[in-house]
Amino acid sequence: MSDAGNEQEIPGGEEPELSPELAEALDDLGPEEEIAEEIEAVDEASASDTPTDVAVASEPEPSSSDAFVASDGAVLGRDFVIPGVAPGDTDPYRWHTGIKREAGGTNAIEVIDVVKQFGRTRILNGLNLSLPDDQISMVLGPSGTGKSVLIKHIVGLLYPDSGDVLVKGESIPALSDDELFEIRKKFGLLFQDGALFGSMNIYDNVAFPLRQHTDKGEEEIESIVTRRLREVGLGEAHYKMPNELSGGMRKRAGFARALVLDPEIVMFDEPDSGLDPVRTALLCELIKEVHAESGGCYLVISHDLGTARRIADFIAVLWKGRIVESGPKEELFESENEFVHQFLRADVTGPLAMD
Ligand SMILES: Nc1ncnc2c1ncn2[C@@H]1O[C@H](COP(=O)(O)OP(=O)(O)OP(=O)(O)O)[C@@H](O)[C@H]1O
Ligand SMILES: [Mg+2]
Repeated sequence: MSDAGNEQEIPGGEEPELSPELAEALDDLGPEEEIAEEIEAVDEASASDTPTDVAVASEPEPSSSDAFVASDGAVLGRDFVIPGVAPGDTDPYRWHTGIKREAGGTNAIEVIDVVKQFGRTRILNGLNLSLPDDQISMVLGPSGTGKSVLIKHIVGLLYPDSGDVLVKGESIPALSDDELFEIRKKFGLLFQDGALFGSMNIYDNVAFPLRQHTDKGEEEIESIVTRRLREVGLGEAHYKMPNELSGGMRKRAGFARALVLDPEIVMFDEPDSGLDPVRTALLCELIKEVHAESGGCYLVISHDLGTARRIADFIAVLWKGRIVESGPKEELFESENEFVHQFLRADVTGPLAMD
């Protein structure tokens, strides 16, 4: 980058010419040595065109005194961006009270101060969340806020840059590969698209975790698979291939597969996406019925308010990489928090806009 715009030559102690934005930022800095260091850094940044920890004044940046600084000292707009947050926003968490209304009982999952960044994009920014055992919890939030990323941290498919994820008291990021393999037997996971193996029929798809993770014989496997498929209304579909099923049937098959190991924790990533309202309602009923029978910690990710009303015991609202508020469903639906209020009423006016 050889444009004179941002370049600050300092030959033989000559005063550099500063852009108004940079001059304003430097005013806040103090001692001359620091200013010189900053100018040098700006120089390097301009020369290499790679992101550094110093603002290059190409866009309006917040001055260093009022920029939002994350708990790890990183500066919003300079060191990282957050989807849905303007780089110059000085107070992106003004609606995040973080209020945790207690659900009662023990917590099965604890997410503690988790930060996760991909390149410069910070998806989770100090996320704290506790999910109660033996209840159906839902994490609701606008599209692209990191709901699927959160699930992947809980099952150990992604690791946090900092912070911790405890499942039944065990730190997931601290586990060895073998331990992770073991603990995953406690999880049932229904991916956003069902994620069935396309080359296996429905029976083999549902039998897969039993064959992979247990030494049960085929007879026992058959009785478990048959029971689970009947439970989800697919008793007649054993020999169908996934591409012969409707979206709703594929989700139900995915649900049956998520349940075969009698998991203590079941996670559903948007079980309702792509389903018509009646099938969504039926799937919700099914989730509730199975939960009532088997118990455990269920985590359902969705942005569907109907699903939330139908099945949630506990709700957490995720936005800008943090939980805005969480608590028992009735209390969250009554919340006076402006964002929670807007989101849970699908109101067009409020803090969430189309940006
Ligand atoms: N492995 C990855 N590498 C880089 N960026 C990623 C990765 N995984 C997710 N992201 C980004 O993280 C952000 C959040 O993604 P995520 O899938 O968690 O959103 P979501 O809340 O589940 O959205 P939706 O409601 O649309 O499913 C997106 O901007 C996505 O592009
Ligand atoms: Mg998702």
